[in-house]
Amino acid sequence: MTETGTVLITGPTRNLGRHAVLAMADRPAGQRPDLLLVGRAGKDLAAVAEEAHVRGARVHEIGCDLSRLSDVRAAAATVRDLLTAGTVRPLRALVANAGTMSTDTRQASADGYELTFAVNYLAHTQLVGDLLGSFTAPARVVLLGSNTYHANVWRKLLHVAEAEWVDPVELARPATGEQVPSMAASGVAYSNAKLAILYYAHELQRRAGAGIGVSVFEPGWMPGTALGRGAPAAAQAISRALGRVPGVSTPERSGPLLAAVALDDEWADLRDGAFIVKSAATEVKPVAHDRDRERRLWEATAELLERARTSS
Ligand SMILES: NC(=O)c1ccc[n+]([C@@H]2O[C@H](COP(=O)([O-])OP(=O)(O)OC[C@H]3O[C@@H](n4cnc5c(N)ncnc54)[C@H](OP(=O)(O)O)[C@@H]3O)[C@@H](O)[C@H]2O)c1
Repeated sequence: MTETGTVLITGPTRNLGRHAVLAMADRPAGQRPDLLLVGRAGKDLAAVAEEAHVRGARVHEIGCDLSRLSDVRAAAATVRDLLTAGTVRPLRALVANAGTMSTDTRQASADGYELTFAVNYLAHTQLVGDLLGSFTAPARVVLLGSNTYHANVWRKLLHVAEAEWVDPVELARPATGEQVPSMAASGVAYSNAKLAILYYAHELQRRAGAGIGVSVFEPGWMPGTALGRGAPAAAQAISRALGRVPGVSTPERSGPLLAAVALDDEWADLRDGAFIVKSAATEVKPVAHDRDRERRLWEATAELLERARTSS
């Protein structure tokens, strides 16, 4: 295992994130990282922190609503303070796991951005950007992707809409009042945010120091997690049933795989937004490599984050 330090993870409160946390906490003492758990403050965050602590991990809860960029900036400042004070060991990995799939694309974050784009993408770019100078090499940034970014067979069967890329400033704009919310629109927003993560990963690697490896993890389809909590009841019931089919991914199975990408020697050389599907390095489709879109996304992201900062 790479030098043991500190791992920051967002979305530790349930499902994939929680199982990744427990897998890291379950490692033998010499290989167990300090854990910074960034999630909405409350009993779920306290519960997973306690579970990790009981397993022997040194844990810090950092309350943060990712739909509020001022919260994200404050969380990054807390992390920097903990590192500077030596309260935790050097920062070796950031796992940007938290995600949401808003069922109404008219919903806006506290900063006025479309909620799915704001939480899945913008919040993590703020966090990573604010902490880029705080990593100790060799370090890893692990972003959460999804195969929904392109039109694959499973997605078609499940009627999950594919990405429809437009300028990032448009992606950040909530739908207008007259637009009727639909699962299709919500799927497009989710898939766009996940395609944005791939573009961002490629550009981030070009800009991050040589000692930071950027990768994107796809846990496999895990039916029945809270990601689909806003879906119609029938769809949620089907999802729960499918979750019991042998071989289908589950947070219990994929959480430890995510922990491995953050910590294990096997994955120490991941770079350039390498896409890991469960435990296999996988080529992304050509649509996920586009230098013009990647450059434009980087610029637009800076504008969106700055606009939120100056208006808060
Ligand atoms: N499920 C799948 O099939 C699948 C497939 C591919 C990729 N992924 C990706 O894997 C990651 C985890 O998915 P999951 O299925 O475990 O999702 P989940 O059950 O919905 O859990 C999402 C996590 O993100 C947190 N989160 C959501 N909105 C937040 C906010 N505004 N502020 C702070 N935290 C927030 C949640 O916190 P709360 O507990 O406070 O809600 C929770 O801890 C996501 O990035 C998802 O896109 C999932």
